[in-house]
Amino acid sequence: EPSADRISAVIADHLHLEGPLLPMLHAMQEEFGHVPQAAVDPIAAALNIGKAEVHGVISFYHDFREAPAGRHVVKICRAEACQSVGGDTLAEATLAKLGLDWHGTTRNGAVTIEPVYCLGLCACAPAAMVDGKVVGRVDEAKMATILKEAGA
Ligand code: FES
Repeated sequence: EPSADRISAVIADHLHLEGPLLPMLHAMQEEFGHVPQAAVDPIAAALNIGKAEVHGVISFYHDFREAPAGRHVVKICRAEACQSVGGDTLAEATLAKLGLDWHGTTRNGAVTIEPVYCLGLCACAPAAMVDGKVVGRVDEAKMATILKEAGA
């Protein structure tokens, strides 16, 4: 778990900014790999805003993680073009197979599944992103290979 000192240091680094909340959260994620639960109180106190507001911002932006990610991150596109050609079914089948919800990580820590909203690969839908690399025309067989290679 990130120490209170490190959390305070990240907060202090961004307090001078105008609109410091988002940069602060991004910095937390960069430093710790996620936005630690323990950071919510001190951020709210430092910015003089409510904890609910901090939580709201964290959950609104899909890029923020509330728990550490697995060794591999698989993002499945949930935007229109992908949904219309089976992205939805692919996502549901993948989550069911792994027994996860969105943002969940397999028990062995190998894979985190996250939603993403258009990867700019609509022509090759359904699309996914594996550790930052886009993959097109992902069907269930292709997803099975991806998950197997990731050690899920
Ligand atoms: Fe999925 Fe654009 S809608 S890549």
